[in-house]
Order: sequence, then C-alpha cells, then structure tokens
Amino acid sequence: MKLAVANLKGGAGKTTTAVYLANAFARQGRTLLIDADPQGSALSWSETAGDFPLPVVAAPVKDLNRRVPQLAEGYVHVVIDTPPGELAITRSAMLAADVVLIPLPPSLMDLDRLRPTLEVLAELEGLHDPEMYCLLTRVRKGTRSSRAAREVLTDLGLNVMEAEVSLREGYANGFGLSLTEELGEYEEVLRELQGQVKQA
Ligand SMILES: Nc1ncnc2c1ncn2[C@@H]1O[C@H](COP(=O)(O)OP(=O)(O)OP(=O)(O)O)[C@@H](O)[C@H]1O
Ligand SMILES: [Mg+2]
Repeated sequence: MKLAVANLKGGAGKTTTAVYLANAFARQGRTLLIDADPQGSALSWSETAGDFPLPVVAAPVKDLNRRVPQLAEGYVHVVIDTPPGELAITRSAMLAADVVLIPLPPSLMDLDRLRPTLEVLAELEGLHDPEMYCLLTRVRKGTRSSRAAREVLTDLGLNVMEAEVSLREGYANGFGLSLTEELGEYEEVLRELQGQVKQA
C-alpha cells in the first residue's frame, strides 16, 4: 500500500499518524517512510530513536510522484508524511499514493480548515483517484465532538474511518521513540485500512 498522510492545516496529527502507521506496516512487510515535510519531523523522530525499525528518507519535493516508484522499489508499503501549507508537495504526495489518509481532530476549526486539502484532491479527479479516508485523532473519549464531526464529514460525502485515535499523552510522548511495542489504536486503524482498501 502507498499511503499519503495529508492535511494542509498544521498540527492535525499527520506526522504522529504517519510514524505510528509506518511502524504498524513495518511489522507486516518492508516499509519505507518518506518525510516530504521540509521541517523533517518524521526524520528527526527516527534519528532521535536511533534504533528505528524502518528506514526514513527525506524528500520534500514537488515531483514526489515521479520519484516514488524508484524510492519504493523493494518495499511492500510506503507511507508519506506531508507538510502543512505546501500545496505542491501535498499534491505530488497524493499523486504518488493509492490511499490518502486525512487525520484531523474533531474540532470545528479543523473541520472548517479542511476545504483546501479537499480541493487539492478534487483537482486530481480524473487524473488520479486515490481512495480517501478521514481519521479522527486527539478524540476526547466520552464527549460529543467525535460524533458531531463524523456527521459533518459524512454530510460532506467523505469516508470517515470507524477507528479513531484518542487524545493521549502516550502518543505525544512517542516522539523520538522507536515504538517497538505499543502502537495503540493505530493497530486498529491499520486493520481497518487493510480491510477496506481494494488491493491495488
Ligand atoms: N492522539 C494524540 N494525543 C495527544 N497528542 C497528540 C496526538 N496526536 C498528535 N498529538 C500531538 O499533537 C501535535 C501535532 O501532531 P503532529 O505533529 O503529528 O501534527 P502534524 O499535522 O504533523 O503537524 P505539522 O502540520 O506541524 O506537521 C504534536 O505535539 C503531537 O505530539
Ligand atoms: Mg508534521
């Protein structure tokens, strides 16, 4: 699976999602994590960890779709972390992917700021049609916000994953760790993705 984690809004949970999911994929087959964010957060995560269980390469470029086939050679899965606010890179990552995962917290502001990301995807229609899923992250358990966000997203005609990621210190504190054991709810996210996505 080639999966791009995208949301033009900053701080939506892209890097956390990309790193946890890449670690989950890596348990199943050779996985490459491509850090397409010039800030390089995923790369510094892996460097800080030292014994990170999969390779991470930096490629903050606008022609990612042309480079990915070569980068991906020999890998079963590729996960791409994308930057906030960088339209061209995000677009090329979407072009390179068969699945686009959009993480977002279930807040009104994050829902409101989703439009530019959806517009990039819409522009690709006909040219490239990856499967697209929203993933609710930083969900406060026992509050209405996740249900309300699901409703808004579904009304927009978007697929929302059943699995969701809770607001937990553990995820925030995962930065710089190699995540060899506990992948939390991301294991469920991976299971659902693999169940849903047509095998490309
Ligand atoms: N489930 C979670 N629970 C608690 N904190 C989280 C969770 N997911 C992410 N965070 C924290 O939220 C912040 C933003 O997450 P992250 O860096 O993954 O977002 P991003 O979309 O990659 O941001 P940017 O747009 O700057 O690249 C980080 O401090 C991260 O540790
Ligand atoms: Mg990031």
